[in-house]
Amino acid sequence: MCGIVGGVAERSITNILIEGLKRLEYRGYDSAGLALVDHGQILRERRVGKVANLEQAVNESAIIGSIGIAHTRWATHGKPTENNAHPHISGRVAVVHNGIIENYQELKDDLEALGYNFTSQTDTEVVAHLVHEALKSTPDLLKAVEQVVPQLKGAYALGIIDTNHPDELIAVREGSPLVIGVGIGENFISSDQLALLPVTNRFIYLEEGDIARLTRETIDVYVNGQKVARPVKELDATISNATKGEFKHYMLKEIYEQPEAIQQTISQALNGNALRPDFLKDAEIDFSNIKQVQIIACGTSYHAGMIGKYWFEQLADLPCHVEIASEYRYRSPVIVGDTLYVCISQSGETADTLAALRDTKKRAAAKNLNITTMTICNVATSSMVRETDYHLLTLAGPEIGVASTKAFTTQLAALMLLILKIGQIKQNIDENQIAEITADMWHTPKVILDTLQNDTEILRLSELFVEKQHCLFLGRGTEFPIALEGALKLKEISYIHAEGYAAGELKHGPLALVDNDMPVVILAPNDEMLDKLKSNMEEVQARGGELFVFADEDSGIKNKDRQHVVHVPNVSSWLAPIVYSVPVQLLSYHVAVLRGTDVDQPRNLAKSVTVE
Ligand code: G6P
Repeated sequence: MCGIVGGVAERSITNILIEGLKRLEYRGYDSAGLALVDHGQILRERRVGKVANLEQAVNESAIIGSIGIAHTRWATHGKPTENNAHPHISGRVAVVHNGIIENYQELKDDLEALGYNFTSQTDTEVVAHLVHEALKSTPDLLKAVEQVVPQLKGAYALGIIDTNHPDELIAVREGSPLVIGVGIGENFISSDQLALLPVTNRFIYLEEGDIARLTRETIDVYVNGQKVARPVKELDATISNATKGEFKHYMLKEIYEQPEAIQQTISQALNGNALRPDFLKDAEIDFSNIKQVQIIACGTSYHAGMIGKYWFEQLADLPCHVEIASEYRYRSPVIVGDTLYVCISQSGETADTLAALRDTKKRAAAKNLNITTMTICNVATSSMVRETDYHLLTLAGPEIGVASTKAFTTQLAALMLLILKIGQIKQNIDENQIAEITADMWHTPKVILDTLQNDTEILRLSELFVEKQHCLFLGRGTEFPIALEGALKLKEISYIHAEGYAAGELKHGPLALVDNDMPVVILAPNDEMLDKLKSNMEEVQARGGELFVFADEDSGIKNKDRQHVVHVPNVSSWLAPIVYSVPVQLLSYHVAVLRGTDVDQPRNLAKSVTVE
């Protein structure tokens, strides 16, 4: 997804902007650019491809400036070309933009009628021309932007500079994340605070509809022309710990961080083998009233939600539905009172999940229905955390690799904590079972460490996937979503076509695909479904399929011709999905590395999908 960095300082900010863009690279992008104001002129460089290309161009042209805006673009309107890269300029004005201006075509027609020439195919360029046009009727840049914003439809964030205001940076947040970094005698903006950590750890989180004017010494935020107060928050220093360290890729580092991440996540809720009395205390009254749960999420977070459904129903005796946010938000679902709506999201900014949440709240209010909203999220300052009644943080630390790993397993841990809490309040789960499961949860970091010992073995097996075109993942029960997740991981980063199936569906279609060339990954913990799964394995082998089985040592599944077994430690069936996630992550990672793909930033994908 696109990224914004901007700043106004006394020193030249060229290097700060480039460093900020590098820190946003993980989000996925296809071109980059920056614009500075120097001696009444806009100096701009844009390049297709990596930020390193832009950096080289900026070094060669040696442009400097103490006010500027920069951008990584992920193409939505128009191809990834230099002309389409941001910033876009209209005379004295330069603009960077995240999100989408839905009515840009109408606006473009009007602007062309006024004589404006368009040099790109983007929706963004209309904003530059509109601000330029508005500046004909007011000398004030802020007022000009305030005139333009009501004309724009869509969800967006903007950074705007003007050569006639060489000490002012304007920022707009309307549906796309934007934070202000508060410095000493200098101030910054970015779509992600991570970009600004080298220059500050103090942030103002803009709210939807905010327009801010930044100078070196001042930050003023306005809503509908009225100044509003927004608090400055200081960020925990540990969040800045986002480097690859000894690992070749962020993804591998994040896979190995899972024991610690899970420990952090459960520590906030557990005291010995019991839930802490203060864990989600504020939510107790609301939780005691809920009659069902609706989970809404996208991508990997949706797979976590699917496992939540099994657990909510089996453990807490509560009906639970789970749905992909992009479907949920548009199909006018019936909003039912006394429902707990749970958004699961690593970023807390995913456009579809956020829109589904907002729509649900609006419709519940219109019908006067009592609902409770909650987010399971990895970013404490995100929109979803701010807009739900309650939140439970996954304390995984920043996740940089586009393919989610530690965020996923910590989401599962957080879901389990939430389910235990609700089950306890509703007295659907007894203290002994809570004690048993929490004891297992404390044990999970160690079990994951043991599972990681299989890394070399999994690397060896991954060589057998390198030349393959297709792959199937099969599991039953809570391993079915892990099969979906395994297939998603493999396709995302290795570009091998992969499908996950509930093993019971094998005969209803995917078996037709099985032949000598089809690797089939089986997730086989030693649970009550194991015998049925073994029958599915026979069915695959009878058709020549090659099996790669992740199984419990007690499962009795052994290595044989065209059947490769990796032993995963014995775990209770509640924790099996967390533990079995690890070998499928490692498998996908090694296959991708062997195929030479860009593991941390796979083609066409973005970490945080903040537009539809
Ligand atoms: C993108 C990411 C996935 C993530 C999904 C949902 O597709 O690449 O890793 O699962 O968005 O993101 P969220 O931040 O809402 O969990």
